[in-house]
Amino acid sequence: MPTNSTRNWEKTGWRNVPGGQMPDWPDRQKFAAAYERLCRLPPLVFAGEARRLKSLLHEACLGKAFVLQAGDCAELFSRCHGPYIRDLLKVILQIAVILTYAGEKRLVNIGRMAGQYAKPRSNSHEKTGDIALPVYRGDMINGLEPTLEARTPDPARMVEGYFCSAATLNLVRAFTNGGFASLDNINAWNLTSFGKFHQNPDYEKLCCDIRKAVNFFHALGNSNLTSIQDSYMYTSHEALLLDYEEAMTRIDTTTGEHYDTSAHMLWIGYRTRQADGAHVEFMRGIRNPIGIKIGPDFSLDELKPLVEALNPENEPGRLSFITRFGNQKIADFLPELIEASKREGMRVVWICDPMHGNTKTDAGGRKTRAFEDILAETRAFFQIHQASGTHPGGIHLELSGTQVAECTGGIFAGDSAQSASFQSACDPRLNAEQGVELAFEIAKLLKSEQIVL
Ligand code: PEP
Ligand code: CO
Repeated sequence: MPTNSTRNWEKTGWRNVPGGQMPDWPDRQKFAAAYERLCRLPPLVFAGEARRLKSLLHEACLGKAFVLQAGDCAELFSRCHGPYIRDLLKVILQIAVILTYAGEKRLVNIGRMAGQYAKPRSNSHEKTGDIALPVYRGDMINGLEPTLEARTPDPARMVEGYFCSAATLNLVRAFTNGGFASLDNINAWNLTSFGKFHQNPDYEKLCCDIRKAVNFFHALGNSNLTSIQDSYMYTSHEALLLDYEEAMTRIDTTTGEHYDTSAHMLWIGYRTRQADGAHVEFMRGIRNPIGIKIGPDFSLDELKPLVEALNPENEPGRLSFITRFGNQKIADFLPELIEASKREGMRVVWICDPMHGNTKTDAGGRKTRAFEDILAETRAFFQIHQASGTHPGGIHLELSGTQVAECTGGIFAGDSAQSASFQSACDPRLNAEQGVELAFEIAKLLKSEQIVL
């Protein structure tokens, strides 16, 4: 039986609706070949897994689980290799351990991984010397190199993106099922970024407490308990390139419903959230859990039609609001948004993205973010939800497992600035130490939330 949202819906229907941020493929024949190939390739995820994630997100709606959604701003084909994926996974798992211990609730681990290859951009062109080149739109569309050839959209990149996503997902599944996520590895992790945090007494205490808890379970002799419970990592990316998402959408034989099998969860970006636009039209028909990025230009009048289109049955776990107002603006916008959603009885997961509202340009013209702003928005998010009686349901981070220096600040700022550089293809990411430090701070917020509850 079609639900309200899938009545009068076809996966190609978005093509008749205005939509931005997508390329005009210059070679239509090449596009048709890539599209047909993608339609025949196996799904990357199962519909059943997406349903399982939806039920975990329902728990987050109720305050019984907490979401960690983290990974690269833009994945690159050239970084689709073992050490890069391992290092990113390692820092995500470290953060997961800290948050699980502190929150005493189920952690829902969702990577911005295995498909985050298409980027929305504010301008269509950029100046390089005297010439204006089309901007980089993500590896699935064009290349980062500043030449006209590389920047021309190439549909074969969608197929390459599929295979890089499959390879990444395969390694993530192998690591998380094959013992890498064992809590015993905390000791090995200590040798790297964890170890340095012993200088801070609060962080040191938390590390000790976690180790004691692991030892306790060991003493009980149950080794099942010492691998991160449900270390299962779900995947997510922005559903921006609808040609790709459409080709990956299949009918689930169990339910007869459409699922986008490119990832477990998809989100609608800040720039493509129009209720009458192509992205919302496409997303209303797939049954995966979906996120909407919400920021300061969002008017409350937009909320109702958007939610009616995407979640007419008010199914809990279906919709997450990923708010990214910026440290300066969150207090002006989030309380009203929460009140409006309460008035309408909306059942949503509230996830804080403290990255995208805090982007600045430094003296060298490079994008950056300050750790202090990221932390301040995160704290405000928790405080506002506490005051409103709603649940802070998760955190959304742009993160690298390598020693980059893209965001400023944090307790090891000095160290990282010397040895590292800006390597992001798009937005500035937290490095592993900044990510772990933020996790320690969120741990405190989760603990104080429990005291209030
Ligand atoms: C992103 O998540 O990388 C992004 C572009 O975010 P937003 O749509 O919130 O600007
Ligand atoms: Co980004």
